[in-house]
Amino acid sequence: MINKKLLTIAKLINKNEIVLDVGCDHAYLPIYLVKNKLCKKVIASDISEGALKIASKNIAKENLNIKLYLSDGLNNINENYDCLVISGMGTKSIISILKDKKLCNHIILSSNNNLYELRLFMNKIGYKIDKEKIIYEKGKYYNIISYYKGKEYLNKNVLLFGKSYNKQYLKYLLKKEFKILKKLDLFKRIKKYIYIARIKRYLKRCN
Ligand SMILES: C[S@@+](CC[C@H](N)C(=O)[O-])C[C@H]1O[C@@H](n2cnc3c(N)ncnc32)[C@H](O)[C@@H]1O
Repeated sequence: MINKKLLTIAKLINKNEIVLDVGCDHAYLPIYLVKNKLCKKVIASDISEGALKIASKNIAKENLNIKLYLSDGLNNINENYDCLVISGMGTKSIISILKDKKLCNHIILSSNNNLYELRLFMNKIGYKIDKEKIIYEKGKYYNIISYYKGKEYLNKNVLLFGKSYNKQYLKYLLKKEFKILKKLDLFKRIKKYIYIARIKRYLKRCN
């Protein structure tokens, strides 16, 4: 069985889509999608030859047909696809993969960090948040955002905390910020208090 994060991503994919999984690693998501007939077709890529060797073995074990590409981001992908998945990388890498590229209608992202920058970037290049999920797995929170082409206004709260409106996640953020607070000098502490107050206000609005 695949992990909760990949399962959540799989649920955001439409049956009629051709999916490209960039940074597929050992191809767990592509295999799950094909085995369970959750989309039309899957292609998968990774920058690491080692990862693709294992992916290829895993695909062969299941007797499936999934084309693998050795590629830095989208550079070597010469097939059409409807849904692009990038999961398990940082925002900087995700942005460098997407920047100045012709992109498909549906993009699903799960970044490890800097979600504010990611939401801002996606908004600027013309993508609208369709759904946003927070999942908790093995002591860590993961954020997953499904985007479609479109325009929307995002206020600062949404840029910072997203559209998952997950109380547990916001409580976790509060706890984390309080821990950091103790180590800061006075000026930074004031700024942190303002941020904490923002999280608290946002938390009150979530049901
Ligand atoms: C932590 S794994 C994530 C695997 C899987 N997508 C997941 O979410 O569980 C990150 C994968 O991204 C690959 N990767 C990193 N930078 C990449 C790039 N620029 N283009 C393609 N793959 C990349 C790594 O080699 C690695 O296999």
